[in-house]
Amino acid sequence: MTNKKNRKGVILAGGLATRLYPISKVVSKQLMPVYDKPMIYYPLSTLMLMGVKDILIITTKRDESLFKNLIGRGENLGLKISYEVQSEAMGIPHAFILAEKFIKNSKVVLILGDNIFYGHDLTNQLVSSIKKNSEATIFAYRVQDPSRFGIINFKKDNIPAFIEEKPKSSKSDFAITGLYIYKSNVVGYAKKLKPSERGELEITDLNNIYLKNKKLNYKNLSDGSVWLDTGDIESLFNASQYIKIIQERNQILIGSPEIQSYKNGWISKKKLINSLSDKKDQYTNKILKYI
Ligand code: G1P
Repeated sequence: MTNKKNRKGVILAGGLATRLYPISKVVSKQLMPVYDKPMIYYPLSTLMLMGVKDILIITTKRDESLFKNLIGRGENLGLKISYEVQSEAMGIPHAFILAEKFIKNSKVVLILGDNIFYGHDLTNQLVSSIKKNSEATIFAYRVQDPSRFGIINFKKDNIPAFIEEKPKSSKSDFAITGLYIYKSNVVGYAKKLKPSERGELEITDLNNIYLKNKKLNYKNLSDGSVWLDTGDIESLFNASQYIKIIQERNQILIGSPEIQSYKNGWISKKKLINSLSDKKDQYTNKILKYI
């Protein structure tokens, strides 16, 4: 059954991002700029594009107030945003344990706060995926450096066999992106996971459970879609450049929650303009130009 109210979203924006030191030493990576907006705007807009309004942001104690200052409760965007603190890095599936009361019996989309998705056909693909999800849905994208990601391996005829977290070497180069859709039973599975060698619960172990039970819906991101990760300095810099070039060429704004809310019909043009009117920054001007 498709009930949009029964959709929840979780953005995982915890962690210390030590690979980005010193720039992430005193502030969350997910607050850093990716070209002209804070990184978290992109995953937030992706959840909105999927029709998700009720969103939990999981962050660290250090950064919680900064996220609240930036995004607040989301009323002006037609959203309902709440916050939860993850006291230490305990792995991605730990988000589901923290979010148990929030999820209740809803479908849940988890998106990593440093993942950027963009593409024309992406909207259709993600919207239909959330509608059709029965247990678990994951998305893959070909990468040049499989050792940095969760990688899906195949049997004959491209049938998924198993997912391996950061393999030293791999035949497959299909990485699992940081966007996952689950039924609420994910909380129970997350609770049963054991920490890996690096002491964290692994999203790959969780997805392998669904895969083994033949309950994992696996998809490649639609042709022409782009997935940008921002895990190290090089990829962060490249993501900024990519966003700048595409925005300028196409005269659009990528990853703007204000524009997404307006496109979804969640706020009127008047309400959007009223919420912007006293600001003269470049981002606001771009929004005004777009609408
Ligand atoms: C995590 C996951 C990995 C996934 C990646 C996507 O890795 O463990 O399976 O491919 O996100 O961004 P991390 O970025 O935490 O190293």
